[in-house]
Amino acid sequence: MLVSGRGSNLQAIFDAIEGGRLDAEVAAVISDSPDAYALKRAEKAHVPGFCIERRDHSSRADFEAALAACAEAARPDLVVLAGFMRVLGPVFLDRFLGRVINIHPSLLPSFPGLEAQRQALEAGVRYTGCTVHFVDYGVDSGPIIDQRVVPVLAGDDVERLSARILEQEHDLLVDVIRRLGCK
Ligand code: GRF
Repeated sequence: MLVSGRGSNLQAIFDAIEGGRLDAEVAAVISDSPDAYALKRAEKAHVPGFCIERRDHSSRADFEAALAACAEAARPDLVVLAGFMRVLGPVFLDRFLGRVINIHPSLLPSFPGLEAQRQALEAGVRYTGCTVHFVDYGVDSGPIIDQRVVPVLAGDDVERLSARILEQEHDLLVDVIRRLGCK
């Protein structure tokens, strides 16, 4: 799992494994930020956590090579980007072709990139949601695996809409990992 922050999606996976709803193992949690709460969640779950920071590497390629080496050491069937806030390039992706998935808080291809929930509110759409997709060389642009729809309600602000989307993210991500049959 690659993470950058809070790690609620990571926690949903831990909870599903713990609750017998997902037959999988999280081999490693890799963060690009030492402050990511996701690392604490990994520690509590007794899963190896690693921090690899961009600023410790002279180029993006070196950074991605370090990330890839760390991920490869865990021998994953699947690499899950769950709130990982960097765009990965070929140095990382070529090593895990077709095995990297990402969760995004909109119905892609609408609203890729940052602040997808705010983009949805500003566009005035009645329905938004979340998407899990295979990662390619673009930004939130790879083949879509599955989506969940979330209605935009009267009085929604970014916080309220994000919270309802997040609930669906947790369910969707666990479901997709289960269906991909990966450990
Ligand atoms: C989620 O909304 C995810 O879709 C987006 O970043 C957020 C991460 O949340 N890519 P968390 O760190 O899993 O709580």
